[in-house]
Amino acid sequence: MKILVLNGPNLNLLGARETSTYGQTSLAEIESRLVKLAKDMLAKDISSVSAEKAKSASLELQFKQSNVEGELVNIIQSCLASSAEAGAGASVSGILINPGAYGHTSIAIRDAFLAVALPFVEVHVSNVYAREPFRHKSYLSDVAVGVIAGFGANSYELGLRALYDHLISNAVT
Ligand code: DQA
Repeated sequence: MKILVLNGPNLNLLGARETSTYGQTSLAEIESRLVKLAKDMLAKDISSVSAEKAKSASLELQFKQSNVEGELVNIIQSCLASSAEAGAGASVSGILINPGAYGHTSIAIRDAFLAVALPFVEVHVSNVYAREPFRHKSYLSDVAVGVIAGFGANSYELGLRALYDHLISNAVT
């Protein structure tokens, strides 16, 4: 199974930008924590299934970040193309996204998710509901599987666990 971890604008500056709001953890550190978590989750899963099923079990993470709205739309659309061109083994099963400020503004990103119809979880480092009113609105939340906000860098780990569990329990076997 492949999961895309997608980050929107300014998240390349995590660990350096507004650290009192977003913390000291860089995006690179978050990504390596997610790789470790993916290994742990897979190992736990494998230990609970038959040897036959365990052989084919996999969890691959792909990381992308862009500050450009259209680029994020292209990346989301490419998840469709990758499944068509590269065969089912290479396709993305779900997306973990921190859309940054575009979550509050982008109908185009919402439409891209609706077009590819892939399950996704929206995460935010900060508790957007405890901040300015313009951060309370998200164009993605109502079409996401779920939303996690306010747990600092840990929001990503909680989000990955939630998305993986969702994908496993909804997998066609
Ligand atoms: C953010 C919250 C957004 O409101 C903000 O524009 C960001 C980061 C978060 O992770 O807390 O860039 O998505």
